[in-house]
Amino acid sequence: MSLYGDLAKVYEAMYQTFINYKEEYIFYSDILKKYKKNNLLEIGSGTGHLAEYFTANDFEYTGLDLSEEMIEIAQLKMPQGKFLKGDMRQFKLEKQVESVLITGRTISYLVKNSDVNATFESINQNLNTGGIVCFDFIDAREFIPFIGKGQPITHEAAFDGMEYLRKSHWSLVLENGMDFKWESTYFKKTDNKWIELGQDNSIVRTFTINELEIFLELNQFKVKEIIAKKAYAFPTYVIVAEKIN
Ligand SMILES: C[S@@+](CC[C@H](N)C(=O)[O-])C[C@H]1O[C@@H](n2cnc3c(N)ncnc32)[C@H](O)[C@@H]1O
Repeated sequence: MSLYGDLAKVYEAMYQTFINYKEEYIFYSDILKKYKKNNLLEIGSGTGHLAEYFTANDFEYTGLDLSEEMIEIAQLKMPQGKFLKGDMRQFKLEKQVESVLITGRTISYLVKNSDVNATFESINQNLNTGGIVCFDFIDAREFIPFIGKGQPITHEAAFDGMEYLRKSHWSLVLENGMDFKWESTYFKKTDNKWIELGQDNSIVRTFTINELEIFLELNQFKVKEIIAKKAYAFPTYVIVAEKIN
């Protein structure tokens, strides 16, 4: 089982209670407007929570995601929406875009350095010169010491008349970099009892600002802004970088 596979419907229900997507939209669309970008590719578009706002506000929007199940939900909600199945490490759009957006700490699935590099290389190839990439990441400096020897954590959500529960455990995995293992079990309340829906175990990467600056420079991007931003479970930063070549 995986959160973006068999549990995609649970993601769709729970995450819109964790994350205020309207606020997310305002935050990211303000950045795109500041750089005068009206068309965007969202990588890791998930179940289309942000897509709904971007398309309703006249942005020319395309979503890209690795998971068929996530895309299926997004496409059902927005039959006219443009969603492509693809891998951020290697993708080719028909036409270059003005901006690429990656939110919800989606780059934390790029555990290998070669995957991070390949992703920025692909983004570069699919962006106009002068185009921008804007992405968030979990801040290793603050989060890794916080996890320390392991943290149990629970998240509850009520959506559409249903109650959900996630019991998680975070533990450090330091073989390759500043990673952690996120083991989660998902439950739904039925007849006043918590019924297990499934489990998801992922290796999640955190980053330092410096290492991302290196990957960006290697792929001909110039950092324009670094913005501290709290997410529902993590300290994060958002980087905005411009393609210079
Ligand atoms: C944490 S979710 C964020 C979804 C959405 N941005 C949001 O905030 O609700 C991460 C998403 O990235 C997608 N993803 C993971 N690895 C990917 C890859 N290599 N290429 C494209 N999408 C990927 C997952 O399928 C999932 O939909």
